[in-house]
Amino acid sequence: MAFPESWMNELMNKNEIVSVISEYTRLESKGGRMWGHCPFHPERNPSFSVSPDKQLFHCFSCKAGGSVIQFIMQAESLSYSEAVRFLAQRAGMNMPDEIDDAKLIAEKALRDRLYDANREAARFYYGVLRSAEGAKARQYLERRGIDPNTAKRFGLGYSPNDWDALYVHMQKLGYTRDELVSAGLCVKGRKDGERTFDFFRGRLMFPVISASGTVLAFGGRIIEGDESERKYMNTGTTPVYDKKHNVYAINMMKGKKLDELIIAEGYMDVISLHQNGIDNAVASLGTALTSQQVRLMSRFAKRAVYAYDGDAAGQKAMLRGVDILTRGGVEPRVIMLPGGDDPDEYIRKYGRGAFLSLRDSALTAVQFKIEHLAASVNMDTPDGRQTFAENACSLLASLSPVERARYIKTVSEKSGIAVSVIEQQCGLSKPTETGTKAGESIPGAYKRPTGFDKRVKIEIMLLACMLSDRGVAASIEQLNGFSYDLFTEPALKRFSQAIKTAYERNSKVDMRSLLAGFEGEVADAAADAAAQSEDILNPIDTAADCISAILRGEREDEIRALSDRMTAETDPQKRAELLRMQMELIKKNRSDTD
Ligand code: CTP
Ligand code: MN
Repeated sequence: MAFPESWMNELMNKNEIVSVISEYTRLESKGGRMWGHCPFHPERNPSFSVSPDKQLFHCFSCKAGGSVIQFIMQAESLSYSEAVRFLAQRAGMNMPDEIDDAKLIAEKALRDRLYDANREAARFYYGVLRSAEGAKARQYLERRGIDPNTAKRFGLGYSPNDWDALYVHMQKLGYTRDELVSAGLCVKGRKDGERTFDFFRGRLMFPVISASGTVLAFGGRIIEGDESERKYMNTGTTPVYDKKHNVYAINMMKGKKLDELIIAEGYMDVISLHQNGIDNAVASLGTALTSQQVRLMSRFAKRAVYAYDGDAAGQKAMLRGVDILTRGGVEPRVIMLPGGDDPDEYIRKYGRGAFLSLRDSALTAVQFKIEHLAASVNMDTPDGRQTFAENACSLLASLSPVERARYIKTVSEKSGIAVSVIEQQCGLSKPTETGTKAGESIPGAYKRPTGFDKRVKIEIMLLACMLSDRGVAASIEQLNGFSYDLFTEPALKRFSQAIKTAYERNSKVDMRSLLAGFEGEVADAAADAAAQSEDILNPIDTAADCISAILRGEREDEIRALSDRMTAETDPQKRAELLRMQMELIKKNRSDTD
């Protein structure tokens, strides 16, 4: 049972979460949030928190959480709709007409109709392409080297060059005007709203099919000779289609065990690649890649090779796209197509073998970014090479030490600047006595992302978590790897000791009196931590993240130090031992991240 949105809003407004929960447990205000003992289990220290701003509750101990409705469900052992009824009664509201079920059912029925309409339309276009009317389109496909078998596999079709051929056909099958307009297959006349036209007319038709084989939408390309028209038209957003959530040709990946996908930009690229035996190609259809598309692709392969057009727009899209892929757990690679060709043009000119060798030498995301930096300056001039080196170093500085080590040589070779200088610029080696300090050698060039500043920030965050209250602080003390020695910044170390002492006397830290005892840096750090403390919803989890970030950073430092020792070590056995120690740390850091 679902309830009307406006009625639900009223219900939530009239059942303010703090007032409801206060009937079950005593809440005390601290830092914009309310704290109390969890009503769902016995506890000595309050770990139950309510946020009046967000109208949510959360117990850090038993992990119960949610809105006022979830609270009542649990507190009164009610189902969802019973809890809603309970709260309606509490607020003196009448129950709404239970109409919404019907609305949901109607929406589902409409979607099913649109799926059916799309399938029928695809059938219609498919038939037309193979009829006398489709002769021009068949010739076009032949000119582009697409054979009938490939056209069939992709379900290609042709939309007649008529005002309403599809409309007339679909009406005969019983589809209403509203359904066809909703599906994006037909449009209402602009001048005369009573008239209905086909959306796609005189175009080569590409059905867009979901992973489960449902026709969702269409793309339509003009046939050469009609250059005045828009080259492609695509179904807009409909109740069954959102281009941000779909990937062209993903239906063809079904049942394949793939090492990787190839991501192209357009319909014709995918079809041309498949025709040439590269049957793991899909397309994002001209849009910037979205995280939803990446999630869909990740179901089929854990690596994706970008093969966008070699032009500037393609490069730009890939620069953003590689990060989106990485974030979605898909390892990106990038094929750089020479001469501004798109994959279709390239494979037609040079063949499958040439494309496959491009794929085999596809760049990693970092290599691609380095290439891009090099291409954005004039590498034939010293100024250009310096700019390149500076930009590349800030890129390298953001990588893990192992990854960084892998690319330093590339940057050195490209810029003609010695490896040792690049290392220093990246903050890899300690600066020499006579040299400039790492990170200061070229002003404004880069900010060292790891090291002191970041560490201090994490330490402040950890303190902020501990400020929640004594119960939370006690739990944090119990976390794996926690110790007061984690605080390396002297001001923060003193502050952490002060918190510890304060908790020995009171369950809550009185920031006013605590701050009164400090001045300068310690007071600043304390105020910083206190301010952050209010925004931390889940202090124990956040603290655990802080601790592992600190430990990971320490291991990274050790990994770096071991590299230095290995370079200096001449005894092969000792070197092997150092390497083994280093691998151990790398492994540990990796498993920590996973
Ligand atoms: N696109 C679009 N509308 C346009 C141009 C492009 O929707 N007016 C989308 C299409 O999905 C197209 C993709 O962007 O396939 C790539 O565009 P483009 O490179 O211009 O077209 P190609 O795929 O190369 O198409 P063709 O080879 O048929 O010219
Ligand atoms: Mn093309």
